Amino acid sequence: MSLDKFISTLDQLEKDALDSFENAADADAVEETRVRFLGAKKGALKDVQKMMGGIEPSDRKAAGMRLNAFKSKVQESFEASQSRLGGGEASGIDPTFDATLPGIRPNVGHIHPITQTINHLMEIMGRMGFEAAEGPEVEDPWHNFVALNIPEDHPARDPLDNFYLATASATQAGSEGSQLLRSQTSTVQIRVMEQHEPPIRVISLGRVYRPDAPDATHYPMFHQMEGLYVDKHVTMANLKTVLRVFATNYLGGDVQIRFRPSFFPFTEPSVEVDFLWNDTWIEFGGAGMVDPAVFEAVGYDPEKVSGFAFGLGVERLCMRRHGITDIRDLYSGDLRFLRQF
Ligand code: FA5
Repeated sequence: MSLDKFISTLDQLEKDALDSFENAADADAVEETRVRFLGAKKGALKDVQKMMGGIEPSDRKAAGMRLNAFKSKVQESFEASQSRLGGGEASGIDPTFDATLPGIRPNVGHIHPITQTINHLMEIMGRMGFEAAEGPEVEDPWHNFVALNIPEDHPARDPLDNFYLATASATQAGSEGSQLLRSQTSTVQIRVMEQHEPPIRVISLGRVYRPDAPDATHYPMFHQMEGLYVDKHVTMANLKTVLRVFATNYLGGDVQIRFRPSFFPFTEPSVEVDFLWNDTWIEFGGAGMVDPAVFEAVGYDPEKVSGFAFGLGVERLCMRRHGITDIRDLYSGDLRFLRQF
């Protein structure tokens, strides 16, 4: 069969079908027209599909396109007449549909366990009077290093330990060198103290970035909770109390806390903070008394104020509480894992 003949046959058939659906006076007439044109056994569509076999291979594409257009036009016309007449007995509703069966529960969103942890930590610290502060994830060297008493030649500034942004140039006064993805939330201490006078009582929860190889306890992007308390006569005892109250609230009443001597350029003395939980000591972060050089960098008088700061790994806290053994599970995007929390 030639393509022209095929197309003119379809033109005629389409016109007939559309007229019949348009003129159908009741649901039975619609159904009768549907069977005549679209019926699975004897409908005209069936014959047309057979005709396709006789079309020259080079014309098949054009013929197929015309056939698809025919099908959708006739189907549309059928549905239009059906809704015009309010359907009939065989109005296209699946007769096997049982309206009394329970429905399919729609998929609703789920809050990521790390976001849940962040909300929980903010709530616990909020009860102790700590307000949440935020800072940018792309930082300049002043806030990430210099004001935190980390000089130019310090190993923490090594390009191998940081994600420097090669194309970004320093934009702020005093920020020598290239911008970078912040490697710690301690940057927010500086931003808060630059903008506010003491007393200060803030936490900052956010993402930080380090080129650490991923393993069960390390990920190149993770979250920290920074804490900063500055006032007159703040002591290490205050630091320990706040961290103990925090740990008891988050991990439970039986948790113990231990300080191990350590070093951070921005605190003096400095400690590593360990919690004893389920019979194991686990390091959760660093802390210490704010170094006088940091107070000087933000324009505070270190003779008049003192303060403590701490930075804890949020993933480690979340993992401990929920018994998660591999940090990578948190970022795998596997819903079977995430739905458990
Ligand atoms: C710091 O980042 C200091 N800024 C903490 C601090 C704040 C000290 C204020 C003093 C005063 P550190 O590099 O140890 O410290 O990191 C803190 C915690 O972050 C670690 O104990 C750990 O819980 C978490 N952490 C570090 N690297 C990773 C990583 N790659 N993946 C997941 N968690 C990590």
